[in-house]
Amino acid sequence: MAKKALITGITGQDGAYLADFLLRKGYKVYGTYRRSSTPNFWRLQYLNLLNKITLVPADMADMASLLEAVTISEPDEIYNLAAQSYVGASFDQPLLTTEIDGSGATRLLEIIRHLKKDIKLYQASTSELYGTIQETPQTEKTQFKPNSPYATAKLLAFHNTRIYREAYNLFASNGILFNHESPLRGLEFVTRKITNGVARIKHNLQKELVLGNLEAKRDWGFAPEYVEAMWMILQHDKPDDFVCATGETHSVKEFAEEAFSLANLNYKDFVKTDKLFMRPKDVDLLRGDARKIKEQIGWEPKVKFKELVKIMIKADMERWDKFSKGELFPWDAPNYPNEISVLKRHIKKIRL
Ligand code: NAP
Ligand code: GDD
Repeated sequence: MAKKALITGITGQDGAYLADFLLRKGYKVYGTYRRSSTPNFWRLQYLNLLNKITLVPADMADMASLLEAVTISEPDEIYNLAAQSYVGASFDQPLLTTEIDGSGATRLLEIIRHLKKDIKLYQASTSELYGTIQETPQTEKTQFKPNSPYATAKLLAFHNTRIYREAYNLFASNGILFNHESPLRGLEFVTRKITNGVARIKHNLQKELVLGNLEAKRDWGFAPEYVEAMWMILQHDKPDDFVCATGETHSVKEFAEEAFSLANLNYKDFVKTDKLFMRPKDVDLLRGDARKIKEQIGWEPKVKFKELVKIMIKADMERWDKFSKGELFPWDAPNYPNEISVLKRHIKKIRL
């Protein structure tokens, strides 16, 4: 029988790529979505997944909806990707971020503990946990010193995942993923903001690109490769915590320089900075050491910095080319289209 996976946050960058990956592996895929006034299915549409998955309404803040999502889908594996994932916004909404990213993950752990111990759980942990870095490169053993409410919320989730594993013998693993990007990245994140900005400037739709801290350095990888790591972590013979990273680090300035040069432009002519995009506290430098996952599980990323920038620039150029020819954007997604399978309330006896 096909394995079943429940992905929280299936409408996000990683959720969409992971759904695609698991479907190719023969899984039956369920994903949670939130009711919103403007539906956000463009990534699922872009990858042509809407007819292949089952959507279940759930919010990480709502225990009842999560319990129902797990009960309905009866998953073998849960991938907890749902989060208020934008670090900058966590300074504006620290309590909400804690509720969704920290307590939300704990809700899922509690549900698994009560319902069925052999559901495997992947927790989307993050290199943001390192904050003010204590050593470079960062490994699973590097001390965490978080620098944002997002990171402290994710730290709560990280430790509860470990604690539930050790205390209750759950198969619960943390992937400590360094930044990973793609053409499906949200426009608010710096890489997509840059590649989309370059494409718009090239099409005379924008004159400048205003950014914040150009000196911040990140270890940027390619998202489709990182979702494969999530799956591999859950196929490992024991639950554990793993760093996923490329081992390279580059500054925001270098990213901009490379992106503009691919469009035959000089970033210095277009990039401005404004305090508006600076955070009250930032993470200066991330560079991961992914030797543990390579040696124990065999995962290793292939796409490195220059290739990644090229992939993202190409995709955004093509989008704005299509737009200038009057074609629709892929994110002109349908509003709750009839053809998608949205599960309605469905009470099942809960196995305690
Ligand atoms: P993303 O594109 O921002 O997607 C986040 C997902 O979470 C979306 O589906 C969003 O739904 C959902 N969500 C937000 N609040 C929710 C709530 N209250 N209840 C239910 N769902 C909610 O993020 P991503 O880049 O795919 O990242 C996936 C996960 O990995 C996140 O947990 C992120 O923190 C973590 N992470 C990401 C990276 C990275 O570089 N991408 C690195 C390390 C860790 P809507 O579509 O309705 O907003
Ligand atoms: N978003 C944004 N916008 N960031 C900017 C800008 C700008 O205009 N200008 C400079 N930056 C800097 C930020 O200050 C930060 O140092 C860096 O660019 C990267 O910012 P983001 O792309 O927003 O990503 P992030 O590193 O803060 O967080 C992402 O990666 C984490 C893993 O390390 C998110 O995906 C998190 O969810 C994830 O956990």
